[in-house]
Amino acid sequence: MIDMYDIHNHLLPGVDDGAEDLLESIQICEIAQNQNTKMIIATPHRKDVIENHSVTLVEDLVSKINENLTQKKADMDVKLGMENHVDLDLIRDIENGRALTLNNSEYILVEMPWEGRPLYIEQVIADLLQSGWIPVLAHPERMRLFENERQLLWEFVQMGCKSQLTASSLYGKFGEKAQRASVDMLTEGLIHVIATDTHMAEGQRCYDIAKGYKFAEQIIGSYRATQMVQSNPLAIFENQKM
Ligand SMILES: [Fe+2]
Repeated sequence: MIDMYDIHNHLLPGVDDGAEDLLESIQICEIAQNQNTKMIIATPHRKDVIENHSVTLVEDLVSKINENLTQKKADMDVKLGMENHVDLDLIRDIENGRALTLNNSEYILVEMPWEGRPLYIEQVIADLLQSGWIPVLAHPERMRLFENERQLLWEFVQMGCKSQLTASSLYGKFGEKAQRASVDMLTEGLIHVIATDTHMAEGQRCYDIAKGYKFAEQIIGSYRATQMVQSNPLAIFENQKM
């Protein structure tokens, strides 16, 4: 099995709708290691961190998980990022440390609104790029916004954004529509990274990067599928161009 890297994961305990306790976080890490994962970026929702916790708390939680991994001599690391909903405060929040990029790189995981279509989204994306940040659009295959306006995803990618598909969308866990959109987006070259968006150790939103890779391989071949779980996410970890 090839080495894999996951850039979207809610394994931090008790912070958002992800893992409930440290035990579950550790279980997710064990499952990830069994799928030959070498690094995970924990991406709690910015809203939950800022409104209910703090950046210091999530940093401490990452340290705690890494201590456990070190004790077990695990060949895996957890880094920190955030899943940042798009709003007008985003750039200011990056500057004041309330919005985190992926492992402190230029890449920032950005989540479009689930409902509605605020007029400011193009402006926020353009401002991010202008300020030197590279938005990585979270799970476009599941967003109604891109279902209604596929052209918008193409435009964002043309502007310099990257996009992240959810592994489990590829095999239908989010329904037929998301599965079809995943296949279309992959074949149209609109996807750069496959990640898990894990929320739990077992169940609907578990860690499944290896399964996602297998499905992607059948659609776009192993060279491109490998880029999406290995070289492109690794470029994000290392703050390199992809
Ligand atoms: Fe997420």
